[in-house]
Amino acid sequence: MFSEKLINAPEGFTFDDFLMLPSVSSVEPKDVETTTQISRNYRINIPIVSSAMDTVTEGEMAIALAQEGGLGVIHRNMTINEQINEIKKVKRSGDLTIRDVITISPEASIVEAQEIMDEEEISGLPVVRDGTVVGIISRRDVKPIINSDPKRMVQDIMTEEVVTVSESTTPAEALDIAYENKVERLPVVKDGIIVGILTMRDILERKNFPNASRDKKGRFLVAAATGPFDLDRAMALDEAGADIIAVDCAHAHKPSIVDSVKTMNENIDADLLVGNIATGEAAEDLMAAEVDGFKVGIGPGSICTTRIISGVGVPQLTAISSVADVAKDYGVPVIGDGGLRYSGDIAKAIGAGADAVMLGSLLAGTREAPGDVVIMNGRKFKQYRGMGSLGAMTGGVGAGTDRYFQEVKGPMKHAKLVPEGVEGVVPYKGPANEILFQLIGGIKASFGYCGANNIKDMQKKAKFVRISPSGMTESHPHDLTITNESPNYPTTRL
Ligand code: XMP
Repeated sequence: MFSEKLINAPEGFTFDDFLMLPSVSSVEPKDVETTTQISRNYRINIPIVSSAMDTVTEGEMAIALAQEGGLGVIHRNMTINEQINEIKKVKRSGDLTIRDVITISPEASIVEAQEIMDEEEISGLPVVRDGTVVGIISRRDVKPIINSDPKRMVQDIMTEEVVTVSESTTPAEALDIAYENKVERLPVVKDGIIVGILTMRDILERKNFPNASRDKKGRFLVAAATGPFDLDRAMALDEAGADIIAVDCAHAHKPSIVDSVKTMNENIDADLLVGNIATGEAAEDLMAAEVDGFKVGIGPGSICTTRIISGVGVPQLTAISSVADVAKDYGVPVIGDGGLRYSGDIAKAIGAGADAVMLGSLLAGTREAPGDVVIMNGRKFKQYRGMGSLGAMTGGVGAGTDRYFQEVKGPMKHAKLVPEGVEGVVPYKGPANEILFQLIGGIKASFGYCGANNIKDMQKKAKFVRISPSGMTESHPHDLTITNESPNYPTTRL
């Protein structure tokens, strides 16, 4: 009976339909632990991942996220080589070991050594013969004699006894070794050959980011997106060092995607996040491909028109909780993707079962998001567009087309596309770390109200109260004109 379809339809809810109940609590926000499982094999220190969108995540954003303990997912609206370069940018930036070591030969003159150090703005050089470190020379060695005896060779004045370390030396061990031996640089040697150099400055700088997400080698963690059937890209990203690969499409509940993800899993080492889905059935079916994490959200995004143009979707809190009900039985993390506007929404997503959230609009407009600042009416903005928008589908390598299972052959590209997203601008927001600080502060406050020490505790303890539209109106500031905008409650509208 058709009428029964409507009568028996379940209700779907999203962030504004609920608040969480305050509970007895001895938890201070400052003591809340935000570490979370982001995929089967990776933990990160804050439950925030940036969207794989061409106006949100390239290398710079992924670095900013990793520094603060989150994770960036590099978008795929670019060639495989370009995406590999972005991954490498992240890995290099978070790598304490400088891999492209600038060296000098023992027979070079000290003038040459001085020139290289000036040009490269470095203060010392390993002296290398046939790949083997035979000495080390620094500005301090060269300075006293550069004018009086410029023809001297490097080998005459270099320090011959070089303290080296291996690739498995940890930063803490390296620091001890450097202090003990009173040196500032430690060549990294493998099978007698120099493969990198560790500098004290870099090790000490690492202390600026104590919360950073790092891989086993101490480099930043990074994720990258691939199409649901793009095995070549997945393998290339894996090879380039992506720790996690996000299989990115608008509707992952398809037998063909289960098969494709199985094949990817057999061919790559990286963890596989698969999405998007919005029901428990989808999670159950995808477990046949042994996915390492789920990405949840059909149409909640600020730039999405999927629900409007197709009439399909699930309000986001219902979607997250339905997937989490299944995923928890398999120990697979759930990432709530899209629709988050405030830190309170993130806390609600976690209370409803998410292990982390993926943010587009909250991070778009930051300094690290791709694209230039534009000034309109004296105010600063940055572009933000859906990956299913016309602009994204026809720009770059057109990744949006296969994300939305569309194929375009021949001319009249635009006319043959059915967009599922829009293009626009968002206010310029400054550095991403300031936004992240506010979001994490808000999440910690929420956990304090709910008496939860950490993410798992919040998933267990959060209790929801249904609210009416007037309950939501009451929740926002009212009955005044805001004169000083809060950093965590933007009121700048277009
Ligand atoms: P927010 O709300 O954070 O959402 O801006 C970002 C998420 O939205 C998804 N996305 C899209 N969904 N059409 C859609 O239906 C689109 O054009 C589109 N582009 C991105 C994506 O999951 C992203 O993380």
